Amino acid sequence: MSAPLLDIRDLSIEAHKDGERLGIVERVSFSVATGEILGLVGESGSGKTVTCRALMRLLPTRSLRISGGKIEFAGRNLVTASEAEMRHIRGARIGMIFQNPASHLDPVMRIGRQIGESLVLHLQMSPREAKAQTIELLRQVGIPDPQRRADDFPHQFSGGMRQRAMIALALACSPELLIADEPTTALDVTVQAQILRLLVELRDKRGLSIILITHDLGVVAQTCDSVAVMYAGRICEKGPKRDVLAEPLHPYTSRLIACQPSASAEAGLLPSIPGQPPSPSAWPSGCRFHPRCERAIGLCRSSAPELVTVRSNHVAACHVTAPARLADEAA
Ligand SMILES: Nc1ncnc2c1ncn2[C@@H]1O[C@H](COP(=O)(O)OP(=O)(O)OP(=O)(O)O)[C@@H](O)[C@H]1O
Ligand SMILES: [Mg+2]
Repeated sequence: MSAPLLDIRDLSIEAHKDGERLGIVERVSFSVATGEILGLVGESGSGKTVTCRALMRLLPTRSLRISGGKIEFAGRNLVTASEAEMRHIRGARIGMIFQNPASHLDPVMRIGRQIGESLVLHLQMSPREAKAQTIELLRQVGIPDPQRRADDFPHQFSGGMRQRAMIALALACSPELLIADEPTTALDVTVQAQILRLLVELRDKRGLSIILITHDLGVVAQTCDSVAVMYAGRICEKGPKRDVLAEPLHPYTSRLIACQPSASAEAGLLPSIPGQPPSPSAWPSGCRFHPRCERAIGLCRSSAPELVTVRSNHVAACHVTAPARLADEAA
C-alpha cells in the first residue's frame, strides 16, 4: 500500500497563558489517503478546529503551540517546515474552508479578484488566464451566471453562495487536501446537501482528499469513507465509517449516534448525553469520558485507555468495550 497523503502521529497541542500550560489536544493520530474523505466528529470544544489549524500551522502563536508529534504531508513534516514553505503549502497544496466564511473573504474585494489573485500568485497565471479560470471555478461550484457574479462583493452573495465562493477559493490552486470545518452548519438543508454533493464530486473527479469536520453523523454517513471521533482533546475511536456507525465501540460514540436527530424525532425532544464535556483546565483523570459513562469501572477513573485495534483499521480506547469485542472476535 502506498503511504497516505497525510499522516498525523501523536500530535499534541498546548495552550499557554501567564506561565501556565494546558494540554488542549493530546497524542492525536490519524491519516488520510489520496481520495479519502475522513469525518472528524465530536462535541463542541473537543479540539477539532485546533487540530486542523495546527496542521495548516495556523495556530494563534501567542496562545497555542504544537508541543509534540509530527504531521507528515506528502512526505514532509509540517511541524518543522519553514514559514516560507508553509505559505506555499497553504496557498497551493492544502485548502481550507473555515467555520465562518464571512470572516475569511475580504469584504471590500470583488469575489472574482480574490480568487484570481491567488491564481496569479501561486500558479503564475497571467491576469487574463486567471480571470477565465476564476469564472470556470465559480461555475464548477455552482454559482449561477459566474461571468457577472465574479464582479460582486461578498455581501452581495447569499450565505450558500459565499460558502461556495470559499470552496472555489480553497480549490483554486488544485490542492491535494481540503479541510472543511463545518462547511454547511449555517446553511439550510437543501443548500447543505448541494455543497456535500459538490465535495464528493470533487473527490470523484480530482481524487481530492478531504477532512470534513462536522457535528452531524448523518453527514458522515452520507459523505465520508472513514471517521475519527474526538472527545476532550483525544481520539476515542476511529475506523471505516460503516464499522464505526454500525458497530460503535466506544460508549461515547454510541451515545453520539443515539443523540442524532432521526426523521421521526421531534426537535427539542432529542436525547442528549448527560453532563457537560469537560474543559482543558479540569480534565478528568483516567478516561476523560468516565464521569459521563454508564459503563465506567474503577480502572476508567485511574488509567487512560490506549487505542486498541479491534478489527482491521477499527480502533477504540475503552477499558470495557474494546477487550470485550476482542474476546468476541476471537471466539
Ligand atoms: N486561542 C486559544 N487559546 C486557548 N485555548 C483555546 C484557543 N482556541 C481554542 N482553545 C480551546 O481549545 C479547545 C478546543 O477548541 P476547538 O475550537 O478546537 O473545538 P472544536 O472541537 O472545534 O469545537 P466546535 O465544535 O465548537 O467548533 C477548547 O477548549 C477551546 O476553548
Ligand atoms: Mg470547531
